[in-house]
Amino acid sequence: MENWLHVGFLESLKEDKAKVVKGAIAVFCHEAQVYAVDNRCPHMGFPLHMGSLFDGILTYHWHHARFDVTSFKKPA
Ligand code: FES
Repeated sequence: MENWLHVGFLESLKEDKAKVVKGAIAVFCHEAQVYAVDNRCPHMGFPLHMGSLFDGILTYHWHHARFDVTSFKKPA
């Protein structure tokens, strides 16, 4: 268990959709799966958890960049 981190209960994550843990890790919940990434956008390091998550796509409001939370690649 040393590499695991309890970030909350799934039902709570489903409601919140995004959460920050340890001050630097963004946790997203999409279709009952949980994804965790560095909470900094790849461009200027702004906080990803402040974006909007809809249908698994995180829309980030500074530059309206979009990321697929399941892969953190830009959606097609
Ligand atoms: S500042 Fe984050 S994508 Fe541009």
